[in-house]
Amino acid sequence: MKILLTGGAGYIGSHTAVTLSAEGLEPVVLDNFSNSHPVVMERLAHLCGGPLTLEQGDVLDTPWLTGVLLRHQPVAVVHFAGDKAVGESVAQPLKYFHNNIGGAVSLMRAMVQAVAEGGWPRPPALVFSSSATVYGDPATVPITEDFPRSHTNPYGHTKLVIEDMLSAQHAADPSWRVGVLRYFNPVGAHPSGLIGEDPDGMPNNLMPFVAQVAIGRRPHLSVFGNDYPTPDGTGVRDYIHVMDLASGHVAAVRALLAKPGSFTVNLGTGQGHSVLDMVRAFERASGRPVPYRIAPRRAGDVAQCWADPGRARTLLGWQATRSLDDMCADAWRWQSGNPNGYRSP
Ligand code: WQD
Repeated sequence: MKILLTGGAGYIGSHTAVTLSAEGLEPVVLDNFSNSHPVVMERLAHLCGGPLTLEQGDVLDTPWLTGVLLRHQPVAVVHFAGDKAVGESVAQPLKYFHNNIGGAVSLMRAMVQAVAEGGWPRPPALVFSSSATVYGDPATVPITEDFPRSHTNPYGHTKLVIEDMLSAQHAADPSWRVGVLRYFNPVGAHPSGLIGEDPDGMPNNLMPFVAQVAIGRRPHLSVFGNDYPTPDGTGVRDYIHVMDLASGHVAAVRALLAKPGSFTVNLGTGQGHSVLDMVRAFERASGRPVPYRIAPRRAGDVAQCWADPGRARTLLGWQATRSLDDMCADAWRWQSGNPNGYRSP
């Protein structure tokens, strides 16, 4: 059974491809490599016991995308493709509205067209990569899926709008099967160290920045504020191992194939860790110092954000299993084995 992964050469997509393959499903990778690297396909071939099918193109090209669906007849689609840098979205909102919302509209229209042409004889099943950012600044923690949604940046706004589009499409055509997955903070890498997170330029996120300090690419970490109402004053987040996140996607696909309907679930561990917890865990995992300096708070940051993952456990039979130490050990193996990410050394 084929599963189409839009953005399948990206960070979450590539780890999901490996996990799908390990479970006997056939991932078809669709990517334009605007925010990923072709080398990933070679690494995936190694990890999956042979080359994966690649469809290179842009999700905004609806006729081409319709052809991909007719050609491969996937039993489900997982939609990863999109831009995801919060800061960039503030500076370039139109890029985010065009690529993220436009891309989702294009994919949904291609799915409708493929069914209408009679060439895709199955109920449309779609898993969407959403984000805990749709919760804005939560009044309390842990966060459940019925918490109010809001957006504090254009990136988060696109996730919220796409969730609403999927809900409207399912209401219009109940044959659609939709799984919305709200990621908390994905970190870590496949234990082989062959694939991992490879941000372009200065990392926005904590884990890749810490890893680059540990390997000597950056002199120190700036800790964005130590005066939050948290145990050690630094921000607390629900970091989840990317391999746990990948298995959550497989569980979501299997749930959609098993019966009609739609669901929205948090994919998190249910445990919060501070910035300094992460620094100490990374030093333990790498054996390297991670020097840091306290810096001013970052605009838009919230003090605490972690999941109540109970619904995913009930609905999908899924829960995260890997610890913060596992996350740091696997991230370090990736970073130390690939000091410049997927770019040649
Ligand atoms: C984590 C903590 C920072 C960098 C973002 C997006 C979210 C999702 C995950 C896509 C915070 C602190 C960070 C640094 C620091 N992305 N920090 N120094 O902001 O929780 O979530 O990434 O879906 O949508 O909003 O993650 O890793 O940027 O920050 O002190 O150099 O680390 O203040 O407390 P965040 P993050």
